[in-house]
This record gives sequence, structure tokens and C-alpha cells, in this order.
Amino acid sequence: MTDLKPARILAIETSCDETAAAVIENGRALISSVVASQMEMHARFGGVYPEVASRQHVLAIVPVVEQALAQSHFTLNDMDAIAVTRGPGLAGSLVVGLNAAKGLALGAGLPLIGVNHLEGHIYSAWVHDAGEQTPSAPQFPVLALLVSGGHTELNWMTDHLTYRRLGSTADDAAGEAFDKVARLLGLAYPGGPSIQQAAEEGDPTRFKFPRARTNSEWDFSFSGIKTAVLHETHRLAKDGKSLPVPDLAASFQAAVVDTLFTKTMSAAREFDAKEIVVAGGVSANRALRTAFKAQTEFPVHIPRLSLCTDNAAMIGAAGYFRYALGHVSGMEIEAQPTWPLS
Ligand code: KG4
Ligand code: ZN
Repeated sequence: MTDLKPARILAIETSCDETAAAVIENGRALISSVVASQMEMHARFGGVYPEVASRQHVLAIVPVVEQALAQSHFTLNDMDAIAVTRGPGLAGSLVVGLNAAKGLALGAGLPLIGVNHLEGHIYSAWVHDAGEQTPSAPQFPVLALLVSGGHTELNWMTDHLTYRRLGSTADDAAGEAFDKVARLLGLAYPGGPSIQQAAEEGDPTRFKFPRARTNSEWDFSFSGIKTAVLHETHRLAKDGKSLPVPDLAASFQAAVVDTLFTKTMSAAREFDAKEIVVAGGVSANRALRTAFKAQTEFPVHIPRLSLCTDNAAMIGAAGYFRYALGHVSGMEIEAQPTWPLS
């Protein structure tokens, strides 16, 4: 690919329960990144309440953007464009970030770039700290496994911004399964980190949870594993036994990781991928990272932990490639709560 024009981008993300802003150069060098999490508030309810989320975004958006700019030691006038998550996500949350971005872009006379949140997750694999030596970028064709709270997809990328969805989930997303099973086991929200922690003391071979079969070769299904955990807890309760939470958590996690890893590896072989990207909240999972890092068939890019869950750095990364490749949005863009990547 020919050299792209350099650009410094201010990015904003408010699609779910994190209010985030970041400054990033050339789609890769991260200068500052601020994430104000509402996690503690939603943990009290055991999940995200959209009304609460959008109100929190309204409170946090200005200080978060100001902090990201202050930490970057740049001002709005030093930016080349503003990137913002347009969807998918919660409508009431998306509009807060989108309106803030429009206001900033209009006020400073900067172009506005609407970014797909899923695209952002994939581009988190391009991000590195501005101070460190530039690591090699993912090489196309890339097979991207996107595993978050709302989505589980295998995307085939032959070039920047080009996505062909090979498969997705027939029912629950991987992160959703973690969250639901955590609730079943009486573990705290968000479920992914709680299950991971409980699993550390557990035996992943104690329960044999199913590795789901799907009609389409590259699709996923997690509701069967979740139901199997539910049946197991009922069976144990009927026998008057206390729940072996660590073993259940470890066995569930092993089933999910095995499914994600095995299917991604076979797709990478089948399509002859050059490299693999694993991104989204569930890519923070230690067992999943270990599985991918242990194989030597394909170079694999997994973002560092702070960039796996929602952040604005990833929106700035994808936004840069949109900007540099001429995909600037008009000021009239609206939030798109449902917006498939391909
Ligand atoms: O990408 P993300 O922050 O938000 C969405 O776009 O959905 O993903 C959140 C999801 C939650 O379901 C959470 O339980 C899961 O990512 N997650 C994890 C881990 N950390 C977060 N799942 C498994 N292991 C983890 N360590
Ligand atoms: Zn996300």
C-alpha cells in the first residue's frame, strides 16, 4: 500500500457504558487515552441500564475529552479530524458522543469521521504507545476474530476497511455467554473477568460442556454451553451439593475458548490468511490469549489489555484509515444503533 498522509485525530466513543476519548497519530501511535467507566454503577444492577448509561455519558463527555486533550499536550487546533463511534450500540449513548463530536468538528472546522464500533475493535490491533518502537502492523489478508459483549464474528479483510463476514453467532455473543453464566454462578458483573478469576482455581476438565455445532461452518453458538452449565447447576443442587464454582467456571471457559480458537484456526487455514487479529472485550481473556499465542502457524495480533474492552483509541485508529483513504462523513450523519460491518 502506498504511504498514507499523516494525521492526528481526536476520537470519541460512547456506544455502551464507557465514556472515552483519545488522541492518536497516523492510526497507530497513541498519545493519550481516557476511559471513564460506568462499570461500578451498572454492577449494582447486574447489567447495563441504557437510561443510566446515557445520563452518565452526558456528565462525563466534556471532562473526558478535555482530559484526553490535556494529556496529549495538544489542543483542538492541532487535530486534523474528529472520529466518533456512530454504531452499533445503545441509541441514547451513541448520540451523546456523536453530538459532542459534531459540535467540536463544527467549532474547529475539522472533518468528522463516523466509525463502526466493530471496525474500531478490529483496529485496536494496530495501536501502540506513541513512545515505543512501532511494532509491525497486521498484514493482509487478515482473519479477524471479533469477540465482544454484543458480537462474535469472523471477518475476512483483504485490505483496510474491507470486511467480509465469514461467520457470526447464531445466538449469544461470547461475552454475553460469559456474563450470563457468571450471573448463574453468582459471580459479579461484568462476567468475563469474574469467570476468568474463578476459573484460575478450577479444573477445566471436570465438566465436559459441549462444543456447539452450527449449520454454517464459520458460525458460532454459545447458548448450548450456557444451558449445559444451567443443567449442571440444577443437577448439583438437586443432589444437595454446593456449587463447585471454580470448576464450573474453568470448564465453561475452556469450552468457549476451545470453540473460538479451533474455528478461527480452521478458517485461517481454509482461507489462507497471512495473519490473525483477535479483538473485542473477550480478547482480554487470559486463556484465549494463551491459546492464540501458543500456536506458531500464524502471526497473531491481540491488543494490550486496556485496548480490548471499549476505548476511543481504537475508534481513532479506524477513523484515521477512513480519513486517509477518503471516507470522511458529512455533519448530517446520525447514530446507527444497528449497523453490521458487512
Ligand atoms: O468490547 P466490550 O468492552 O464491549 C462490547 O462492545 O460489547 O466487551 C465487553 C465484554 C463483556 O461481555 C465482558 O464480560 C467481556 O467482554 N470480557 C471478558 C473479559 N473481559 C471482558 N470476557 C472474558 N474474559 C475476560 N477477561
Ligand atoms: Zn465494544
